[in-house]
Amino acid sequence: MKKGIIVTILFVITVVLAAACVNLSKKEEQMTFMELAQKRYSVRKYAQIPVEKEKIEEILKAGNIAPTAKNIQPQRIYVLQSKEALEKLAKLTPMGFDAPVVLMIAYNQDEEWKNPLQEGIHSGVEDVSIVATHIMLRAAELGLGSCWVNYFPNDETEKAFNLPNNEKIVLLMPIGYPAEDSKPNPNHTKKKELNETVKYL
Ligand SMILES: Cc1cc2nc3c(=O)[nH]c(=O)nc-3n(C[C@H](O)[C@H](O)[C@H](O)COP(=O)(O)O)c2cc1C
Repeated sequence: MKKGIIVTILFVITVVLAAACVNLSKKEEQMTFMELAQKRYSVRKYAQIPVEKEKIEEILKAGNIAPTAKNIQPQRIYVLQSKEALEKLAKLTPMGFDAPVVLMIAYNQDEEWKNPLQEGIHSGVEDVSIVATHIMLRAAELGLGSCWVNYFPNDETEKAFNLPNNEKIVLLMPIGYPAEDSKPNPNHTKKKELNETVKYL
């Protein structure tokens, strides 16, 4: 009887300790926004391992909840992951960086919000930029690297991937696990002083 009680007490202690450990490691994984923003850097060298489908879906969901003008959501995201698509892209730009996944992030010109008070001011590029920023930060949170890439021939790329005429690509975003020797470019930490970029009026 006494032995039974001791075994039960030991079992309860073990369960409580295990739960505390799980909770602790979860807390350690959680980063503040500033920690996450500081952790992210442009990754230009990727491990040759695939990215889990669930993680791709997670980062796409983060993009999906981004704000867009009038909540129109004109973004169109093409997930390039097949050998054929990635090879096609590699012929257009070297800046897919051999990542296992490249997002081609575009917007629909007919849908984007057009400012009725100011001729020529449209929100497509801004909308896509916020979506892409959400994606980039969620990727970093999940341990994935990314890089914002504008160095590609826009018209040629739209043509090569048979995009409809009203869809304009804003950026490419390679995504994948950073290679073991990947490290931030020295530019990463070179920031202007706030008083050079901010004016209080
Ligand atoms: C609009 C935009 C366009 C960019 N285009 C490219 C690009 O074509 N190729 C590239 O390697 N990096 C590109 N970058 C990444 C920047 O060079 C990088 O964010 C910057 O040097 C700061 O480094 P960090 O991202 O590591 O903090 C681009 C970034 C932005 C925001």
